[in-house]
Amino acid sequence: METVAGTSCQNIGMRIGVLTSGGDAPGLNAVIRGAVLVGHTQYDMEFVGIRDGWRGLVDADFQPLTRHDVKGIAKLGGTILGSSRTNPFEGRGGIERINQVMGDAKMDALLVIGGEGTLAAAQRLADAGINIVGVPKTVDNDLSATDYTFGFDTAVNIATEAMDRLRTTGDSHHRCMVAEVMGRHVGWIALHSGMAAGAHAILIPERKTSLEEIVRWVKSAASRGRAPLICVAEGFMLDSMNDIHSERGLDAFGRPRLGGIGEQLAPLIEEATGIETRATTLGHIQRGGTPSAFDRVLATRFGMNAARVLHERQWGHMVALRGTDVVTVPFGDALGQLKTVPMERWDEAALLFG
Ligand code: F6P
Repeated sequence: METVAGTSCQNIGMRIGVLTSGGDAPGLNAVIRGAVLVGHTQYDMEFVGIRDGWRGLVDADFQPLTRHDVKGIAKLGGTILGSSRTNPFEGRGGIERINQVMGDAKMDALLVIGGEGTLAAAQRLADAGINIVGVPKTVDNDLSATDYTFGFDTAVNIATEAMDRLRTTGDSHHRCMVAEVMGRHVGWIALHSGMAAGAHAILIPERKTSLEEIVRWVKSAASRGRAPLICVAEGFMLDSMNDIHSERGLDAFGRPRLGGIGEQLAPLIEEATGIETRATTLGHIQRGGTPSAFDRVLATRFGMNAARVLHERQWGHMVALRGTDVVTVPFGDALGQLKTVPMERWDEAALLFG
């Protein structure tokens, strides 16, 4: 594997359009900085910022992205480029339009930083001959090609701290506290933050669970004088449910917007146990603010290596983390199959429930 420090290709002076697309994740700015700094210093690249994801590409809405523009941004949450959940093939978008915009702006290639929806769109564009390289991003940690995505560690830390706080107020009022975390169709944020916070049950999409089982854990914790803490992933389903809980329609890629299962569970738990129960949906708090040191390092390495992949003209590829190495994989490896929580990981955590 070729590393940033030891490259041999000689493609000098490419002009790269950079966009961040989909839900934001702490670490996006560190990726941008890593790519721009290494692109400038090692490969003589020039960068153009594309505003608000695919929307800015279709609308030719750009901003400067020089070395100066990325100064000190690794520690900032959000993305200096803005993001959106725009589908590049809808409206006046499409391959022809994107080719035209890139041609007019003299862009040789695109660097897209995004999750599953973004990478699926990127693959379609790469298949159509557009020069494109990706960086995987999601707080959900659900992309199968990479062991971790940046943003996940920060989200887990925020959720853990929030649950620590819920515990003290739960203790004061002898209540059961239900904390709902993000994660879409996988339970990684719930598993990690729930374990870190010592939750009495962790409910994840990969494991349907009966209300009776939840009630057993709640009563068991309460019987020892503990205020029960339940960590539930937004994509969790009770065994009596046929569909995921979604009350806010579909996003631009046709995926259900999740959130609200905690509020559904709380009255059921209260009724079945007689213990006053409150639900808190942590929501976008988990995506905001300063990235953790782990996420800054991972995101910076992803950005630096993405510049190398661009330089090597490995179109249709993205960077990924395998163990502690940053590797290059085809977009297809990240798509099609979600990286779900293995049942043995949940079984391990469940030894401590109740
Ligand atoms: O994919 C990241 C994520 O934060 C999910 O965990 C969540 O379901 C979704 O995005 C929320 O999307 P939005 O920011 O569009 O409401």
